[in-house]
Amino acid sequence: MSLRLGDIAPNFQAKTSIGDIDFYEYLGNSWGILFSHPADYTPVCTTELGKTALLKAEFDKRNVKVLALSVDPVEKHLGWISDINETQKTSVNFPIIADDDRKVSKLFDFIHPNASATATVRSLIILGPDKAVKLIITYPASTGRNFNEILRVVDSLQLTANFSVATPANWVEGEDVIVVPALTTEDAIKKFPKGVKIVKPYLRYTPQPNK
Ligand code: BEZ
Repeated sequence: MSLRLGDIAPNFQAKTSIGDIDFYEYLGNSWGILFSHPADYTPVCTTELGKTALLKAEFDKRNVKVLALSVDPVEKHLGWISDINETQKTSVNFPIIADDDRKVSKLFDFIHPNASATATVRSLIILGPDKAVKLIITYPASTGRNFNEILRVVDSLQLTANFSVATPANWVEGEDVIVVPALTTEDAIKKFPKGVKIVKPYLRYTPQPNK
């Protein structure tokens, strides 16, 4: 199944490193991140899972539940988690799906046969509390993802959901944001008491509303 932005992510049940889960039950009303890795005991994945575990407080602050996936069985995940904890100086604190039958990988299109017939690529999706897909990124196996960038995207998505603002290129927390085109300037002035800077009628900035 090929998922696109705005689609509702399918539910599934799976074995994981913390036991059997139902995806929707695991997410509850939180935001969600599901990300795939080529395989257990691979170097780039080891650093990615360690980095994600170290950022737990940041994901919690944003009400995001994280779920990883690799196409190996639970017993192999458990041995690998010990290595991740040891080498990355952390404690893996989120489930890793044991997708040895590729069921979830196929559901989310995580196998790209021209890259590898059997291993998953490095894909990541962000889901809103409504289970709608908000972001899809796919990296090659050899490039580790930047999890600070993932948090930045979550911040941007949550600002859009809560305040009708968008974020400009290279935006970082605390910088001015953009008034969404759907809002008239008259309504924007009422909605954003910190002020609206009109550069062009279609390019209007306001200070980050939740700061
Ligand atoms: C990995 O760590 O997953 C990896 C690194 C280089 C090439 C392919 C995979």
